Amino acid sequence: MIKHYKLGFLGFGNVGRALARLVVAKSAELRELYEIEWSITGVATRGLGWLSKPEGFQTSSLLTSSIDESSPDRSIGINEWLLAARPDVVFETTSLNHETGQPAIDYLTAVLKSGSHAVTANKGAVVFGYDDLSKLAADAGKRFFFESTVLDSAPVFSLFRETLPAVKLRAFSGVFNSTSNVIIETMEAGRSFDEGVKMAQELGITETDPAHDVDGWDATVKVCVLANVLMKIPLQPSEVRREGIRNLSTQRLQAARSEGKPYKLVARAKLAENGASLNASVRPEQLGPSDSLGNVRGTSLAAHFELDMMPGLTITSHRPGLQSTAYGLMADFINAVKG
Ligand SMILES: NC(=O)c1ccc[n+]([C@@H]2O[C@H](COP(=O)([O-])OP(=O)(O)OC[C@H]3O[C@@H](n4cnc5c(N)ncnc54)[C@H](OP(=O)(O)O)[C@@H]3O)[C@@H](O)[C@H]2O)c1
Repeated sequence: MIKHYKLGFLGFGNVGRALARLVVAKSAELRELYEIEWSITGVATRGLGWLSKPEGFQTSSLLTSSIDESSPDRSIGINEWLLAARPDVVFETTSLNHETGQPAIDYLTAVLKSGSHAVTANKGAVVFGYDDLSKLAADAGKRFFFESTVLDSAPVFSLFRETLPAVKLRAFSGVFNSTSNVIIETMEAGRSFDEGVKMAQELGITETDPAHDVDGWDATVKVCVLANVLMKIPLQPSEVRREGIRNLSTQRLQAARSEGKPYKLVARAKLAENGASLNASVRPEQLGPSDSLGNVRGTSLAAHFELDMMPGLTITSHRPGLQSTAYGLMADFINAVKG
């Protein structure tokens, strides 16, 4: 039985647009394999405002920014927008706030209270809102999913949720920030820090404010997401020892590369002796080829987990792009509606 789902896009930047392109490209598979049809009935951003069209927007006009021509309705805020667009699923892809997770948490709260599934790529909302949003979703019989928040699309949360019951996670490490990788490799090749930032921006992989990448906030927030969700330890970004990549000179980076131990921005977290708190850090480290994270290049991301049932489990996402992040959101959509 084909079911039609109305979709709301809250945030429509690099990731939101990549997702809109992806659901168009995957329409046939969604219909044939999952009996899913869809239309986009709501789009909201700071610049556009709160737009809705109950009969569905033309996705092509959304992507070519000719939205005004399709005469959408305008709401004054999230609750009115949800009432107007009546989405079954909302994709929240607004910018990272590493201090409070807002306003994304308020948005996702309203989404779940309105009876929609909530899917986000926004790690700030998960760090600061995970417990409350998960409870709200469970009470409403809806899903709150966030697979794209740590390794773009590589399965982490669904892997633990579906296939690793009753394991205890003792420690993890990761290369979680592709922008830093791209900058470091650009500088190793003799170009400047600013050229590296520009290259990452052109790939669409930086945070809205790239300082959140280079100063280690993105990786720090990802450490907290993993700690909160997989270890049930409410780690805050301020509790992670954090050093970004700004102080790495071209000379130092090139020397490390020649030595065969290039720098990466490495995140680590380990249960303390008491088993109830974590020692966590994000800082540049030199990694050799035998290190479990040593071969992570370019935009690639990796997480290495130490579990009571497995000494080491490494997940690497090789050179993900915006489409990969979008795929994580689309996979969450399919998993949310299939029950
Ligand atoms: N890019 C990636 O590779 C990647 C990968 C994984 C996760 N993420 C996460 O995905 C999210 C989006 O990333 P992006 O690259 O798409 O960022 P982006 O291109 O900067 O887009 C952000 C979008 O959110 C909107 N927005 C920001 N604050 C808002 C607010 N308070 N209310 C309503 N709309 C708001 C922006 O609207 P205006 O433009 O009108 O201000 C824009 O449409 C971030 O949380 C990021 O951490 C990104």
